[in-house]
Amino acid sequence: MKLEGYTQEWKRTMYCGEPRAEHAGKKVVLNGWLRARRDHGGVIFIELWDHTGVSQVVFNPEIIPEAYSRAKELRGEYVLAVRGTLYMRPDGMENPALATGAVELMVEDFLLLSPSKLPPFDPNEADNVNEDLRMKYRYIDLRREGMQHNLRIRHKAVQYTRNYFDKNGFLDVETPMMTKSTPEGARDYLVPSRVNPGDFFALPQSPQIFKQILMISGCDRYMQITKCFRDEDLRADRQPEFTQIDVEMSFITEEDIINLIEPFMAGLFKETAGADIPTPMTRLTWREAMERFGSDKPDMRIDMEIVDVTDVFAGGSNPFASLVANGGAVKGLLVPGGGSLSRKEVTDLENRAKELGSAGMANFQIKDGALKGPLAKFISDEAQSRLVEISCLTSNDIFFVMADKSWVKACGMLGQIRLEIARDRGLVGGGWKFLWVTEFPLFEWDEAARRWSPVHHPFTAPMSEDIQYLKSDPGLVRSRAYDLVLNGVELGGGSIRIHNHEMQSFVFDALDISTELARERFGFLLDALSYGTPPHGGIAFGLDRVVMMICGSKSIREVIAFPKNQKAQCPLTGAPSGVDKPQLEQLYIMSTAPEEREA
Ligand code: AMO
Repeated sequence: MKLEGYTQEWKRTMYCGEPRAEHAGKKVVLNGWLRARRDHGGVIFIELWDHTGVSQVVFNPEIIPEAYSRAKELRGEYVLAVRGTLYMRPDGMENPALATGAVELMVEDFLLLSPSKLPPFDPNEADNVNEDLRMKYRYIDLRREGMQHNLRIRHKAVQYTRNYFDKNGFLDVETPMMTKSTPEGARDYLVPSRVNPGDFFALPQSPQIFKQILMISGCDRYMQITKCFRDEDLRADRQPEFTQIDVEMSFITEEDIINLIEPFMAGLFKETAGADIPTPMTRLTWREAMERFGSDKPDMRIDMEIVDVTDVFAGGSNPFASLVANGGAVKGLLVPGGGSLSRKEVTDLENRAKELGSAGMANFQIKDGALKGPLAKFISDEAQSRLVEISCLTSNDIFFVMADKSWVKACGMLGQIRLEIARDRGLVGGGWKFLWVTEFPLFEWDEAARRWSPVHHPFTAPMSEDIQYLKSDPGLVRSRAYDLVLNGVELGGGSIRIHNHEMQSFVFDALDISTELARERFGFLLDALSYGTPPHGGIAFGLDRVVMMICGSKSIREVIAFPKNQKAQCPLTGAPSGVDKPQLEQLYIMSTAPEEREA
């Protein structure tokens, strides 16, 4: 097979997605990849693809006998330059599904620029292809319309973001990739330092400390679109390496952040998805979000709310009575239309509740005008009426009830059931439902480590009215942190920071971080805080998650050109991979990995 050189005369005069009826009669050159090929009654039709779309290209032996016989050798994903004239397609042969479907290119000559091996999957039909295979041959995967679309939406989102923050006086500052560990709660990726034997840099989990130092430096408004690295369990919306839109501002309160971000998000979704996002956006405190939706990132498209039925089970001899007497909570969830759930479906949900850590989930229904359910007989008539009144239960529905000694656990488990039922029964509505969640707890109890740990990060300011509990009852302290949630996905989070050295030391103390450890890990921040720090705060968004939502993708891997797989590997390059002993020795590192793994 002869490959020909690519000269000026073969450069495209149009993209493959551009030909229209108005171009009929025009001589054009197209460059692209051979997508589909059909041989019909002695004529060869191919679809020629580039990132703008496909054009139908026709090789007719009567017009170009020589080129026609060469065309017989062409296969999928070959790269071609074709020259010819655009014609209206014959009557009845138009393809309205294709933007170029009114016309076809009658080839007069063509160049074969590069052949292709048989691709491991058909880029037209990659939807059911194993994801690792798609990642290994990412260049073929990215030749698909959907993936090209995602890359271009991401580009648009980045352009819009830079512009928006530039117009609002933000300074784009780069922060180091080789740095010291930042406390975002995941494990670090480490980089050994050859010139400092035994020492390691950490890749940043976020630019958190640097952006605070930029505020102390007088930069006033900072933004950066930057990579962050976290060694944590992977999920559909988590990658070890991901991108943040990172923002910090001085002399502000929570309202300034919200007033900056709402028009940003509304503008971004308008620009990239044509969506009209209503502002102001809904706000819920963390407590309310947990209480009503059982989640700190509730999906507001689901029209089901959790209700409190603790008092229904107070007293008497029902199975929850002692739990209630000891300060536990009983929560309920009405599933509209759930009366039609089969016995098996109810049992499956009960089993699911057990998997989530519940001692059991009870249900109530109304049958023949009476309240039915395993626990109905344990509660008084009065309590039964109260339960029906609170739940709004009718004979069409089912009401699930879950109890736990911990309020947050009872809410959280039922919140998860709410989500799963809604997904299974098609009860998730449409549209974009943004939500601010505010007033998160400052600390949460880490049972394994038997100490308090920060819910956000240790630089988050406590709400001033709760400072009094910092020592006596840390679990009661609310923080000045906020998250922005969209359709059940946490898009971003941030907080107003502690801007004084004493308060920062006090919080480290409450977190049981000793003065020595605090100095060793964050001494540079503590020092900086003592040289004149403006009140400041900020927020960071997961760019990958934002783009995933705009594109309607199921995973952030769909909107990242070269993602890692579920095992945190890159199937395209084979990273991470072993290194030879001398390289390790230069870094003063010895591997303890099992032998066969090293081989
Ligand atoms: P946080 O840890 O909440 O806050 O991260 C901010 C946002 O980053 C995204 N994100 C991720 N995206 C993909 N893969 C991951 N592994 C991953 N981890 C986080 C999420 C999340 O909402 N420094 C603070 C922000 C601040 O306080 O200003 C921070 O990083 O969308």
